[in-house]
Amino acid sequence: MQTKPQAKYLKDYQGPSHQVASLELTFDLHPTKTNVKAKARYTATDEQTSLRLDGVDLNLLSVSVDGQPFEQYECTHEHLLLSGLPKDFELEIETEISPQTNTSLEGLYLSGGTYCTQCEAEGFRKITYFLDRPDVLTIYTVTVIGQQSMPHLLSNGNQIESGQLADGRHFAKWHDPFKKPSYLFALVAGDFDLLEDEFITRSGRKVDLVLFVDKGNLTKAPHAMASLKRAMEWDEKRFGLEYDLDIYMIVAVDFFNMGAMENKGLNVFNSSCVLANQQTATDRDYHTIESIVGHEYFHNWTGNRVTCRDWFQLSLKEGLTVFRDQEFSSDLGSRGLNRIDAVMAMRTHQFAEDVGPMAHSIRPDKVIEMNNFYTVTVYNKGAEVIRMMHTILGEENFQKGMQLYFERHDGCAVTCDDFVAAMQDASNVDLSQFKLWYEQIGTPMLTVETEYRAQSNTYACSIKQKHAQNDPIQSPLHIPFAIELLDKSGHALPLIVNGERVSKVIDVTQEQQTVVFERIPERPVAVLLEDFSAPVLVKYDYHLSELIHIIAHASSDYARWEAAQQAFQLEVFKGVEQFNSGSDITLASELLDTFSMLLRDRRGDLALLAELIRVPSFDTLSSCFEQTPVDALNTCIKRFERNIASQLVEPLKQAFEACEESGELTHDAVSARALKNVCLYYLAMVADDKVTKWIDNQSESDNMTLKFGALKAAFNAQLPTAEDAMANFDSQWRHDLLVMDKWFALQATQIGEQAIAKIKSLYEHPCFDKSNPNRVRALIGSFARNNPEEFHRIDGEGYKLLGDLLIELNAINPQNASRMLTPFMSWKRLDEQRSKLMRAQLERLSQLTDLSDDLFEKVEKALG
Ligand code: TRP
Ligand code: ZN
Repeated sequence: MQTKPQAKYLKDYQGPSHQVASLELTFDLHPTKTNVKAKARYTATDEQTSLRLDGVDLNLLSVSVDGQPFEQYECTHEHLLLSGLPKDFELEIETEISPQTNTSLEGLYLSGGTYCTQCEAEGFRKITYFLDRPDVLTIYTVTVIGQQSMPHLLSNGNQIESGQLADGRHFAKWHDPFKKPSYLFALVAGDFDLLEDEFITRSGRKVDLVLFVDKGNLTKAPHAMASLKRAMEWDEKRFGLEYDLDIYMIVAVDFFNMGAMENKGLNVFNSSCVLANQQTATDRDYHTIESIVGHEYFHNWTGNRVTCRDWFQLSLKEGLTVFRDQEFSSDLGSRGLNRIDAVMAMRTHQFAEDVGPMAHSIRPDKVIEMNNFYTVTVYNKGAEVIRMMHTILGEENFQKGMQLYFERHDGCAVTCDDFVAAMQDASNVDLSQFKLWYEQIGTPMLTVETEYRAQSNTYACSIKQKHAQNDPIQSPLHIPFAIELLDKSGHALPLIVNGERVSKVIDVTQEQQTVVFERIPERPVAVLLEDFSAPVLVKYDYHLSELIHIIAHASSDYARWEAAQQAFQLEVFKGVEQFNSGSDITLASELLDTFSMLLRDRRGDLALLAELIRVPSFDTLSSCFEQTPVDALNTCIKRFERNIASQLVEPLKQAFEACEESGELTHDAVSARALKNVCLYYLAMVADDKVTKWIDNQSESDNMTLKFGALKAAFNAQLPTAEDAMANFDSQWRHDLLVMDKWFALQATQIGEQAIAKIKSLYEHPCFDKSNPNRVRALIGSFARNNPEEFHRIDGEGYKLLGDLLIELNAINPQNASRMLTPFMSWKRLDEQRSKLMRAQLERLSQLTDLSDDLFEKVEKALG
């Protein structure tokens, strides 16, 4: 009989009952009967004589203490309770587990034919009984025994021994000299092709770099390797941080719940975040790979050397490491475009989380299933909070803070408070009010009013902050609010307050604050929250002409994109009204003229131009409404796109033809391809012979960015050739599942009476597999996110498709099921009929007899 899942609270935190001096693990690998021996030295931290170890789904074979069989224990569903123990003892536990039947992809499992582990957050307890918590750090020595058919037997640290066994099998023994918590443990066993390289650290140490990929995939490994070397070099330069072991290994596996995992010295990666060549991967894939390789590498210091005291502190390592990977991408590529990406993720996904039932602070204080808190709030908003500290302190002080953080806490498991304390102490900047960001929930709103006074040449800007309704913090936050004032030609005016030049970042610390800028010769156009200097909403009455002024003249790429987003928002508000009154929906001609001018000029970064003229997605736009006007929004987006296509045919064609792209991976070539694809996307909607030819030609390209761009354009516009093109792509790429994921994701966006049936029929496609998270995300994730028309069908068939799948996934892979459930979390923001239908799916789930903790937590919150 299963009991109702119990929540854990931050306020209940207690240190561990025991310290562990060392842990020796021996794995005798077998698909269904892997034998695990765990020998550890435990020391009680006080007069404790009992020990409660975590363990789930384990078959316990034996327990001994100090070399003697031990029987004073009790085995429950999730624990092993030992009693009558001495203060200091050696505990040896033997368990048996079944990697083959472990479809949760947590603990030890088989991915294809490869053994691999995923222990974060609480997966180690599926391997052996242990104090599976991040504040218990110890030294690991691991022996892996396996068949000859698995030549590579890997674990963390350095290999210290290997050899043959009498029964024809072999073994390898690994030692990791750095103390680590159990979530950073990893084991991999399989047959791979290896890409080997090396990196010389700035102090002159040689580090071996090894990438393990499935046989035959070597030609897709160089980009990840190059990314790793760039990351190592960058972390030395920008943060002064050097790698610490003699070897760094990355293994790519096909079955993985997330992108990648930073296990000490042995990263395990989703193969989708490693493998790339020009034929199979898009420019976007290349970028993602570089940033994730960087992210995991950066964890070696921000996560591994200094780790989290408890899982409520997850943002300590994730927020900080996302900030670091964003900076890495920005220093190496375009800062503006990277900022656009990050802000898009915040606005579209994080703001949605903030207004849903799973809203939480970046440091949550109540958790049922930890896996549910690897969220955009903890990761992305967490990174924004770090970024705000960086903005407030400046690079130099921030780096001093980082140094102090490592000086104080290297080798330790610490809290977010410790991080902020290091930043404050190193910089002498008071962060006590700032710290509220760790507790506040929801998106704060800044209401801005401005007034230009011609007699005094002043511009007053008053800012009022208001917290979300669900926010437990109602006292004012410290918000770095960046502002620029543009003159008629788009130049930023110097900001002068009380006769002195001030920086563009205003420290908003009060509920209401007014800043008066002086020596402003004419009414300026205000660029507010420049660079998204804080994760807040801004309410300000922009006039379309002001936004167009920014789009056309501002020097900041980010500000121009932001203004275009705001312009689309204004147009959507207008469009929804037009929809409701039954009148024609059109984009303002001033905006179309601006786009036309930009397309003809093609000055600056072409990738930015591509982003400027893209209509924001359904999910992005719906976050501007309290209740999502589904039908109106779908219609607006479609009408806007057709409008752009039909009104700008000539400039789009011109831009398409003028884009020279060398087929290389340089920033310019990538940007040119991005613009080409956006142009083609629009042009397909008004395709003439010329355009059709372009699409056909580009479909034949052996550059995946171009090839898929053409396919998407044709498919979206439902061109007569699209069906054949899709079929050809299918037969060309069936051997490559990662490429097929693109195809599945595109199929999932189809519309029409047969759409649901056709999407469902893809479950039977030979490449599809419900137990593989990449496939499920490609088909069903894309359906729920990128096909608002069919997902939100008024007959509820879209919701049912997802609901049916979730019931199956609940049994196969609860962690993946829970991530896939996210679109249902916003049921309350839909119209009555749709919210009823969505709610019904949540209720179906709530009635399952074996509902996983992962789904239970979200379903209960959603219905509560
Ligand atoms: N720590 C990993 C990262 O951010 C996240 C991760 C990978 C993860 N796999 C996981 C978290 C499985 C929970 C479960 O890079
Ligand atoms: Zn991470």
